[in-house]
Amino acid sequence: MANERIVGPIILLGAPGAGKGTQAKLIAKTFGIPQISTGDLLRDNVARQTPLGIKAKAIMGTGALVPDQLVLDMVTGRLREADCERGFILDGFPRTVPQAEWLDKFLETERESKDAACKAACAPPVVIQLQVDYAKLFERIAGRRSCPSCGRIYNVYFQPPKVEGTCDVEGATLICRPDDREDVVKERLKAYEAQTLPLVDYYGSRGRLVVVDGDQPVEEVMRQAFSAIEHVNRL
Ligand code: AP5
Repeated sequence: MANERIVGPIILLGAPGAGKGTQAKLIAKTFGIPQISTGDLLRDNVARQTPLGIKAKAIMGTGALVPDQLVLDMVTGRLREADCERGFILDGFPRTVPQAEWLDKFLETERESKDAACKAACAPPVVIQLQVDYAKLFERIAGRRSCPSCGRIYNVYFQPPKVEGTCDVEGATLICRPDDREDVVKERLKAYEAQTLPLVDYYGSRGRLVVVDGDQPVEEVMRQAFSAIEHVNRL
């Protein structure tokens, strides 16, 4: 059973395919806090053809980032939901310096207005950067399959399902993401370098960043990520 203590915000930073979603699910399950993946939230909006989803679909298809304001409007409501009261894990957010500045202000405002427990849940975040060589990223993304029903992530090379093409849990047919085409992945990597890598300095200079070698077995990456969550001083 997940423990009930206050964990606070955790951010997973890393290039496409670095393992953010894989680790976020493990952390969420262990600590009993929600995984908030802006990629998943956007894909859900695309599937439901909401006004946001219609705007985001064309942008995501090119590998570019969705404009900050659209993402921030989407995230604000999610962070205020009741299941975030002991903390939350952000997967794919923030992704630009303006998003990180917005998050810092949001957490600060929440700390000012809440009781002691809520203040801890909105403490300054622990930021875990997963580092993986680019050549490996392409291999991981090419092999990625996911369950359209439960979101579980597989890899035909590294974490295959028990039955080829089928989710171990839901029995659903596994799918490939439309933005996992090689030409789109190249654009996603360019966007990562130009817009997201500056966050390494942003959080590093604030003493919040822990770098984990993401090119290790999932369990070892998890062990080091858990150690960061337990030991980083949030003051
Ligand atoms: P998003 O969905 O966030 O995609 P991403 O950041 O490109 O990351 P991925 O989901 O591709 O990879 P991951 O790091 O989660 O790796 P995974 O665990 O799946 O964003 C998609 C798009 O949405 C963006 O391009 C943008 O347009 C938009 N967007 C989202 N957030 C936004 C924001 N904040 N602002 C603006 N736009 C935004 O693992 C990959 C594969 O590797 C899997 O098959 C897995 O099984 C395997 N694997 C994982 N770990 C290991 C390991 N240790 N060893 C071997 N294999 C492994």
